[in-house]
Amino acid sequence: MPKLKVFIAILVLLATMHLTAIDSRSQKNHDPKEIPALLAATYIHAVIEADRTIYSQYIVERLGETVSLKASEKWNETNTLPLPAQFLMMSSQVVNEKNLGIQYRLKSLWPINEHNTYTSKKEKEGLESVAQNPNQPYVWTAKKNGSIIFNAVFPDLAVTKSCIQCHNSHPKSPKRDFKKNDVMGGIHISFPITKPASSQNRLAVAPEVVTDYVHAILEADRTIYAKHVVNRLQKKNIIYASENWWEENTLLLPAQFLLNASDLIKNMRLGLDYKLISLWPINPHNGAANQFENIGLETVASKPFRPYIGTTQIGNHTYFQAVYPDIAITPACVTCHNGHPKSPKHDFKLYDVIGGIVVSIPMNSD
Ligand code: HEC
Ligand code: HEC
Repeated sequence: MPKLKVFIAILVLLATMHLTAIDSRSQKNHDPKEIPALLAATYIHAVIEADRTIYSQYIVERLGETVSLKASEKWNETNTLPLPAQFLMMSSQVVNEKNLGIQYRLKSLWPINEHNTYTSKKEKEGLESVAQNPNQPYVWTAKKNGSIIFNAVFPDLAVTKSCIQCHNSHPKSPKRDFKKNDVMGGIHISFPITKPASSQNRLAVAPEVVTDYVHAILEADRTIYAKHVVNRLQKKNIIYASENWWEENTLLLPAQFLLNASDLIKNMRLGLDYKLISLWPINPHNGAANQFENIGLETVASKPFRPYIGTTQIGNHTYFQAVYPDIAITPACVTCHNGHPKSPKHDFKLYDVIGGIVVSIPMNSD
């Protein structure tokens, strides 16, 4: 019977799904919807947090235990892994330099590196507040060059025991009694308010700005992971990445890094979702799931400059979706995809579009 029940559940689900893709050029007449700023910050934080957790648990902690591959401050000189904090800081630098408006930093009231202390009264209050009450991000606004900047501090938790072992024993750490799941610091996120002039909501951001931010962070984390972890350690024959990373005690492929973080985000049930898809997928699960994704992939494959955007209706819920091109930025992308026995395409060239990243965020229904 359970099999039948699952089958019926799937049928009901299919029956309630009305997938309608609305091209960006044919928007409905009403004002484009907007995302409240705190909700936007919550999505952004979820992405940073998910990647940080995957890196800490599946890379640093797991490979430390199984193959004694350590993480250390001098990772480049010692052929080890960057520390989780260094990973976050490298990727935040990449994102900050894109000048999209979004900025984020890892800060603490008890920093090992004094550069990571608070730099304003509000930031200090934010760190104190999330240390007291980790369930509530601390938010404020500031004015800069005529625009309103929204700020939020989210707690940074000791998610693995390696966090506390290392900080408690580090000679420069001013605090030595961290316990698992303690608040160790905070992630300060800021971005300008970009709502349309007609907006009713005082602090809101346009949905395409939110997906641009989410995409920028995903790209930055994947690039840092590919460049400073996978490519560097493979070149030095320290460790390699493989599809069967779990059984073989190896690194995850960059695509698997992204997909595992996306599973974590799904489990957070925020409604935020992203995936990696392609018209020529190695894994058939990564093919286009509907007409919107199919047109999106075709569009970004021929014009890889702007994302393909639209809204999709699933039951009573409306989702804003954006498909971004996923480009073969290193020769390794090309070699591996062209040579993979399950790949349906074997003539990718450097800088070709291999697929797309679809980012979906829920919109309030009418
Ligand atoms: C192997 C040692 C090590 C591990 C493991 C580690 N850290 Fe750190 N952490 C550091 C060092 C060293 C710095 C300072 C990096 C720098 O120079 O900016 C740091 C920086 C930080 C900061 C910024 C404030 C500061 O102390 O400078 C926070 C917050 C933080 N780590 C939290 C964590 C959390 C949470 C984890 C686990 C997910 C973790 N750390 C894992 C060593 C470690
Ligand atoms: C060492 C091999 C390898 C490398 C290097 C690699 N990939 Fe992949 N890629 C895979 C495999 C295997 C999958 C399927 C993962 C799964 O099971 O979901 C995949 C999945 C993907 C997908 C989803 C569609 C599909 O084919 O299933 C895209 C898009 C993608 N990779 C793009 C890239 C890009 C861009 C790069 C370089 C930045 C890259 N890949 C580097 C092996 C590789």
